[in-house]
Amino acid sequence: MQYSEKVMDHFMNPRNVGEIEDASGVGTVGNAKCGDIMKVYLKIENGIVEDAKFKTFGCGAAVATSSMATELIKGKTIEEAMKITNKAVMEALDGLPPVKVHCSCLAEEALHAALWDYAEKNGIVIEGLEKPVEDIGEHEEIPEEE
Ligand code: FES
Repeated sequence: MQYSEKVMDHFMNPRNVGEIEDASGVGTVGNAKCGDIMKVYLKIENGIVEDAKFKTFGCGAAVATSSMATELIKGKTIEEAMKITNKAVMEALDGLPPVKVHCSCLAEEALHAALWDYAEKNGIVIEGLEKPVEDIGEHEEIPEEE
């Protein structure tokens, strides 16, 4: 399996690891199939994501995608943040091997879960945001490792 240099960099030196104590939104998503868990903290002020941090108990690709996802979301409006899909995260990392694509889905879901938490706490509706699931493994197939 071949990882891009960017994936290796974000795995070895992950950005934004940690917690935000007074986070505006916190989201936790896991995948029971691989057992990995990702927790994302967002600090949102005046509709802008001022800060993002994460804690990931998971594979290297999960660490790299949460690192990149939190980098991408910082400084974005909520509308822009909604455009950070797993594909956008993968592109920013110069791709992931097919068996690791589901790890980037965990990152997208964790961002959405944190945005959902923020929306609920503030009584707002974020367009296009669906209620997050706690276990994304129920909704997807992980391809077998070759
Ligand atoms: Fe579970 Fe990567 S193997 S997130």
